[in-house]
Amino acid sequence: MKFFIDTANLEQIQEAQNMGILDGVTTNPSLMAKEGISGEENIINHYKNICSIVDGDVSAEVISTDFEGMVKEGEKLAALHSNIVVKVPMIKEGVKAIKYFSSKGIKTNCTLVFSAGQALLAAKAGATYVSPFIGRLDDVSTDGIDLIDQIRLIYDNYGYETQILAASVRHPMHIIQCAEIGADVMTGPLSAITALLKHPLTDIGLEKFLADFNKANG
Ligand code: E4P
Repeated sequence: MKFFIDTANLEQIQEAQNMGILDGVTTNPSLMAKEGISGEENIINHYKNICSIVDGDVSAEVISTDFEGMVKEGEKLAALHSNIVVKVPMIKEGVKAIKYFSSKGIKTNCTLVFSAGQALLAAKAGATYVSPFIGRLDDVSTDGIDLIDQIRLIYDNYGYETQILAASVRHPMHIIQCAEIGADVMTGPLSAITALLKHPLTDIGLEKFLADFNKANG
């Protein structure tokens, strides 16, 4: 399973990259705003900075909600770097735009997906990635992991090549459950990724090994 980090924070992206386990980055307008990135030039430069840190796909989201606007924005974003993936919302105009980008060989990430039907449409339009938001489904008392399971079954039934990018991941169990089901990618915050490291027996064991070494070696 590929690991993407869901942030526009350059330090966190660098930290995950330094661990050697990072396969890509997802951003969205809220994450860009959180880092104080605004204005077209700053946004463009920020995407270029992200692409210079990570050698993997970087999702950059369009703001337009009409087909022409999405195409114009998406083509500009895709021209920034070969790793840019145009992130398009799951609306009717978005499906049309994904189909267009797919015919032009431009990679896409269909975002804001909350149902199997939406995921099916994204695959039929030729999306490179589909992003079901599992954490936000959990937030409204619906099991987000069940949706990943359902999409995996549907995509495997027909051999769709669209990759399932489990998004809105909140904690390490989400990551493990996504891996069990066979999500192609997960995107989450650095805290969820580093939480995978933690086990008290590892800490206790390491402390004992080091204490024994120090006793034996003076
Ligand atoms: C996906 O690409 C989104 O950026 C993201 O995963 C949304 O997560 P959130 O629900 O934690 O905002």
